[in-house]
Amino acid sequence: MKIKNICCIGAGYVGGPTMAVIAQKCPHINVTVVDINEDRIAAWNDENLDNLPVFEPGLDSIVKEARGRNLFFSTEVDKAIDNSEIIFISVNTPTKTYGKGKGMAADLKYIELCARQIARVSKQDKIVVEKSTLPVRTAAAIKSILNNTGHHVHFEILSNPEFLAEGTAVNDLLMPDRVLIGGESTPKGKEALKALTDIYANWVPREKILTTNVWSSELSKLTANAFLAQRVSSINAMSEICEKTGADINEVAKAIGMDSRIGPKFLKASVGFGGSCFQKDILNLVYIAKSYGLDEVADYWEQVILINEHQKQRFSDLIVSTLYNTVSGKKITFLGWAFKKDTNDTRESAAIKVADSLLSEQAKISVYDPKVVAKQIYSDLDYLKTRSSEENRNLLQVHKDPYEACNQSHSVAILTEWDEFVSYDWQRIYDNMQKPAFVFDGRGILNKTELERIGFVYYKIGSGA
Ligand code: UDX
Ligand code: UDX
Ligand code: ADP
Repeated sequence: MKIKNICCIGAGYVGGPTMAVIAQKCPHINVTVVDINEDRIAAWNDENLDNLPVFEPGLDSIVKEARGRNLFFSTEVDKAIDNSEIIFISVNTPTKTYGKGKGMAADLKYIELCARQIARVSKQDKIVVEKSTLPVRTAAAIKSILNNTGHHVHFEILSNPEFLAEGTAVNDLLMPDRVLIGGESTPKGKEALKALTDIYANWVPREKILTTNVWSSELSKLTANAFLAQRVSSINAMSEICEKTGADINEVAKAIGMDSRIGPKFLKASVGFGGSCFQKDILNLVYIAKSYGLDEVADYWEQVILINEHQKQRFSDLIVSTLYNTVSGKKITFLGWAFKKDTNDTRESAAIKVADSLLSEQAKISVYDPKVVAKQIYSDLDYLKTRSSEENRNLLQVHKDPYEACNQSHSVAILTEWDEFVSYDWQRIYDNMQKPAFVFDGRGILNKTELERIGFVYYKIGSGA
């Protein structure tokens, strides 16, 4: 099958960068990314590449190279579907906020709307690719909708989960550990698998392109994220033991990471994991397990989330107890709001919960993050509905200059591991703070000896020494 046109429904964190890289690596294929959100499409088309809706190192130059050549961003969803032989679905699948499975199951309404739209528009056979992370067996639902509505053309469904991490999306896409494609083993299924494999083979070595059945592919994505999140919760659980016993979590992580069965990556203790995937995918896994009556399995994975919530809570508790059991009216500076460095994404960021707890203790918070804008920070807090948005604006200030954010502060808390925090003039920060000046390093990035020499009372996550 000769593929000339592909489209992607959903121009978000996954769809945008993924399609940009496909377009760059496959100049012979026209790639159209569509979205119902006009502002988002306008931002992807912005002449000024600083305004792209997704900030990822290296993404701007790829968009610059391919945009207008064979990469297009548009709001004309029907037209793109009609024109394409392959359609990727990369719309959001948030956790349900209503009804059965509320707070746990994935909300598939956007996926279903897409499937219905594809069925309505398609007049020729199409390959439909699930790119969004989805509960196992979603492909079956998509297939059922596609085959029972529309014009009775043939649809072949593939699952092709994305494993890119934010902040390293471009690298992850250019040099993936693996590409996973699930499909049916019928002749048409194999043909579809080959068509998608051939696209990736333009830049990914064939031995790294795995093909499986659809269900294995869907489940592998949830499993990968559950395992990664579990590693963070495991190291974070140990970080609390370290603080009590006088061990140091970095030393422990290094020691266990040298065991080749464990490996050194993803063992950094933190104030808690965030991001759009980990919590959502585990909740989803828990929901699936429960729906099959697998209560022990569900409880096992749920514990990963519970430890993560505990880690955030104990960080804010520690700030309160250290500041003489009251932070009421005290200024506390947050360095970092994003859920990790090198991204402007704040979804599920630990900073949100920590701030919310401290605001409930009547602290005054000032925030500096190199990439996150004030509007986002307020909207993250307002979304919790703990207090009115007016109160949030009164209690929390957002600064464009880190030194200003720290001025007259009682305590600085590191919430994100941005590199620039390490090279700040900490003496200058100290000189302008209230005394005693506290630093709570929720990412373990600063130099303890240096900070203590300046005069800070320094607390590092996972360090009991
Ligand atoms: C273990 C540790 O590996 C070793 O480093 C430590 O010093 C002592 O404990 P051991 O108990 O000899 O060593 O065996 P190991 O190979 O680790 O297996 C432990 C159990 O886990 C076995 O029952 C094994 O069958 C099981 N296992 C191991 C699995 O079920 N699946 C696996 O993938 C690996
Ligand atoms: C994750 C997966 O890595 C990716 O494969 C999947 O496609 C989407 O979900 P992402 O959410 O972008 O990617 O970020 P990731 O780098 O995995 O970090 C997730 C969270 O864990 C962050 O808050 C990060 O700070 C935290 N983390 C990560 C730690 O606290 N310690 C670590 O050692 C690693
Ligand atoms: P992800 O992190 O999975 O990429 P995002 O929320 O960043 O998720 O992006 C998903 C995008 O999908 C949003 O921009 C949203 O407007 C878009 N979207 C959702 N439903 C549809 C639809 N039916 N048609 C087109 N775009 C859609």
